[in-house]
Amino acid sequence: MDTVHITDVAPRDGLQNQKIAVSTDAKLHLIELLAAAGVRSVEATSFVSPKAVPQMADAAELVPRVRAVLPQLRTSVLVPNLKGLERAFAAGAEEIAVVLSATETMNRKNINMGLEQATEVSEQTLHEAHRLGLRTRAYVAVAFDCPFEGETPVSEVTRLTERMLAAGAGEIVIADTIGSASPGQVRDRLGALRERVPLDQLAVHFHDTRGMGVANAWAALEAGVRRFDASVGGIGGCPFAPGAAGNLATEDLVLMAERSGLSTGISLDSLLDAVAYAETLLQRSLGGRSSAWLRMQRAKREQEQAALATA
Ligand code: COA
Ligand code: ZN
Repeated sequence: MDTVHITDVAPRDGLQNQKIAVSTDAKLHLIELLAAAGVRSVEATSFVSPKAVPQMADAAELVPRVRAVLPQLRTSVLVPNLKGLERAFAAGAEEIAVVLSATETMNRKNINMGLEQATEVSEQTLHEAHRLGLRTRAYVAVAFDCPFEGETPVSEVTRLTERMLAAGAGEIVIADTIGSASPGQVRDRLGALRERVPLDQLAVHFHDTRGMGVANAWAALEAGVRRFDASVGGIGGCPFAPGAAGNLATEDLVLMAERSGLSTGISLDSLLDAVAYAETLLQRSLGGRSSAWLRMQRAKREQEQAALATA
């Protein structure tokens, strides 16, 4: 069966912007619940400045614990520069993701570098990661629109994608950081990109700000893409990109893919346990567009099973 590969980015993209401090134990437990649901790949944390993102300050503590408890889980971490790579490697990370935005201003706001410097630093980080034997991903962020500069030129997205590929990135992650893309744009941009990037190295990362996350994911599937980032419960958003809301929810993506005949290896019932746990952590209700319905279905099945057991 045709398979969709999902990287759950909730532990990083989901938590980085949350005001409530989440303990390392709790992050580890969330990752354990994701793995128990069948998620095979997560973005666990980021090695960024703790001043910029206090929630990720425990990255060096979290990574070895995840690696010890879940050695089979593909665990990636975001790094903005060589210092982040050095810290990630020392902590035992096996995969890193560099984050290059496709506009000058977004790079400045996010990582305090201009576009050219950010590109060069990303290249150096990829080269060094390769030398250290790590797997790599490269985000091309604000690949549709930038919150500061408006629509991002397709030519910039393809140019930066080519530079990241040439620098050895194992996977290119085309990110709709503020969730402004529409399915037609996804079709067009991925149509241009798949001429340049082998499909098994091309991933997409959507946010659901305008309720188009699933539609955009469908457009990406139709374009041949099978690698997706998503966040359980739909939690997420970049603190440095105004207007960015939560990510495409993993449960919405799984439901859409499975109902369309694609396999994800992920159990929706078990994913709901991870959503419920994230709700207790963040003390608010979470979940993608499908969560209420999924919960109802599960409750109905549980009632039926209980009735059968007592019959
Ligand atoms: N991890 C931890 N600390 C880091 C670091 C990293 N990857 N990179 C730099 N630092 C530290 C430096 O050691 C220095 O520390 P000091 O003040 O104690 O001497 C301080 O941060 C400033 O270093 P500098 O190189 O001047 O960085 P900067 O102030 O220009 O900030 C980044 C650049 C990239 C470190 C910062 O903007 C950042 O962490 N951004 C992350 C953004 C993010 O996570 N966005 C969401 C995900 S896309
Ligand atoms: Zn994101």
